Amino acid sequence: MQHLDRRPRRILATSALPYANGHIHLGHLVEYIQTDIFVRYHKLRGEQAIYLCADDTHGTAIMIRARTEGRSEQELIADMKEAHVADFADFQIEFDHYGSTDSPANQRRCSEIWQSLRTRGLITTRNVQQLYDPLAGVFLADRFVRGTCPRCKAADQYGDSCEQCGGAYSPADLIDPVSTLSGAQPEVRSADHLFVRLESLHSFLTEWTQSSGALDPPIANYLAGHFLNEPLRDWDISRPAPYFGFEIPDAPGHYWYVWFDAPIGYLAATTEWCAVSGESFESWWHRGQTEQPAAEIHHFIGKDITYFHTLFWPSMLEVAGLALPTRVRVHGFLTVNGQKMSKSRGTFLLARTYLDHLDPGMLRYYYATKLSGGIDDIDLNLEEFTAKVNADLVGKVVNLASRTARWLEATGLSATYPDDGGLFAEAAADGEAIAAAFEACDCARAMRIIMVAADRANLYVDTQQPWKLAKAGPGSAAQLQDVATVAINLFRQIAVYLSPVLPVFSNQVGALIGGAIRSWDESQTPLAGISSGVFTPLMRRVEAGQVAALISQSLIETGTQAQPQGVQSMDPQTSLETPSTPPLHIPPPADLGAALTAEPLAPECTIDDFSKVDLRVARIVAAEEVAEAKKLLRLTISLGGETTRTIFAGIKGFHTPESLVGRLVVVVANLAPRQMKFGLSEGMVAAASGAGATGVYLLSPDSGALPGMRLH
Ligand code: MSP
Ligand code: ZN
Repeated sequence: MQHLDRRPRRILATSALPYANGHIHLGHLVEYIQTDIFVRYHKLRGEQAIYLCADDTHGTAIMIRARTEGRSEQELIADMKEAHVADFADFQIEFDHYGSTDSPANQRRCSEIWQSLRTRGLITTRNVQQLYDPLAGVFLADRFVRGTCPRCKAADQYGDSCEQCGGAYSPADLIDPVSTLSGAQPEVRSADHLFVRLESLHSFLTEWTQSSGALDPPIANYLAGHFLNEPLRDWDISRPAPYFGFEIPDAPGHYWYVWFDAPIGYLAATTEWCAVSGESFESWWHRGQTEQPAAEIHHFIGKDITYFHTLFWPSMLEVAGLALPTRVRVHGFLTVNGQKMSKSRGTFLLARTYLDHLDPGMLRYYYATKLSGGIDDIDLNLEEFTAKVNADLVGKVVNLASRTARWLEATGLSATYPDDGGLFAEAAADGEAIAAAFEACDCARAMRIIMVAADRANLYVDTQQPWKLAKAGPGSAAQLQDVATVAINLFRQIAVYLSPVLPVFSNQVGALIGGAIRSWDESQTPLAGISSGVFTPLMRRVEAGQVAALISQSLIETGTQAQPQGVQSMDPQTSLETPSTPPLHIPPPADLGAALTAEPLAPECTIDDFSKVDLRVARIVAAEEVAEAKKLLRLTISLGGETTRTIFAGIKGFHTPESLVGRLVVVVANLAPRQMKFGLSEGMVAAASGAGATGVYLLSPDSGALPGMRLH
């Protein structure tokens, strides 16, 4: 597949630099996982691919947050970077370099680009009216002002746009504006701002966005229809002090706006990576370095920041004479169960919270099945997540090995690869289509082809029935070894294809059979005559309880906070400054519906249905442990008078026998008796459990109720 005489491609890939004022959540991961798959795929193909990223550290939000927390911005961003790096690493996202925009390298690159802009005469100064918080002593980004919409009069709207009527306006027009920082009424103050005269680059931008091939048609059309159809407005790239950022060298008291220095962070990250790896920055970012294959630059971004990466950023690169992005790959937003991520529903899921409950490989695989390279939003449906992981990864992929690997532990693989009816060759031929899909960032298609191959492999095992061969005795040993050799080869072949998505899993497969997976070409040749490791289960089924526990922990961590202020539109007006962030403290659990979400209400029933169930008040008169049962207690309950019943209840661990004797409970008194290993159980004690709960809660009637009373 690969030509040995071909020189490797040189691919520089980036994800957008995450803001340092919040933790990584599952929405972010759509992007970082996607980029990681792209880079790992290219590395596996023998290309020189690098993945660069950094924290985006500047701006008002960080400054305010540091102030609130009583520490320096540097301390805050250092802590946040550590948390980001750990989250990414645990999700198997592997950067070649992860930097920070608050770095000397970035400051230097900013100065260079600034100098080019000045030299070209593209900077102009204008006086700007902006809202100022007199208590906090800062100019307010639009997102830090709320008030009544000047158009529809809806209360409590942002300074730049109204969620009720969708109107966009200037914060100065807001009725009764309030600073969300201090609650003060903002004043309108004027200050000088520096602008880039973008209109000078109009024809360049039209050409680059419409004809360079860097953008997918929907993005190119969006830009043509919304921006390039009229003169481009000057871009405001400075903020007056106080501001956390870099002071502009030839404009003291003025700082580069965070969105000026953030994309330059891509250059700074390259600079730092080059210093460590001995590479030259010029060979990646200078135009026409012909002694090596030209570098390809791929930016992965979410749709909310399209404008910055397709108008401002290429303009800066153009003016500085640097290489332009080969591709800007724009993806949609994550929804959870069909809705915007929501703190009150427990679906604003932080990366770390997920990791406390579930295997990161599972999310990587699930996202891969959803990512097709377009800008549509991506839905994380938790039921589908469970079903897909269980059916595909556990049921199809791991199952192949768990049904066959053990037969090879003693013997190793057959000396020559057996006749498999063409199965290995068929899946090897799939390699090209899978590669094309990865290349196009259509991971979903790649996963579909791989799962079809897995189906064929499982069908092979089903028909060959190695377990029968194993029972048939020594006469069938050679055939058994052959069948297992085929199955394990098909398994490893799938692991090669999946390794950009599931790197850790693929390493484990390599440890079992054939060594570490290093090259795509390993999917093309079967292994024979080698030993095999001892199989250990590589992935376990997801249980519904794990997902419910994830949601309830998420509710506890984030549920009582305000909604995240994610920006979901492609309208640049709404994304000009960082939204405020969730506080770091953990509030107490709240009654927010996790149990109901995890277990929706049963279908309607009639009063007649209900009255068939005879619920009675009962008194526990004796309780004892059942030695052989982990969860059960044997209860003797009285329904009044002489009537007693024995009930085995699954409440051991939550209640000691002593604490139960004497208390009133509710029982299902007419439940058909059930013969258990330990004796006959003659009813059921009513208890509540579910998501958000760590225990089992018995129901008690109000005082005055007596054994035998019926619940109506
Ligand atoms: N700091 C800027 C990017 C600067 S790039 C020079 C930023 N940071 S962010 O933390 O808000 O987002 C980082 C990336 O994650 C962006 O590409 C953004 O679109 C993406 N996502 C953030 N939330 C997301 C979802 N809920 N769903 C999918 N992607 C999301 O923007
Ligand atoms: Zn409105």
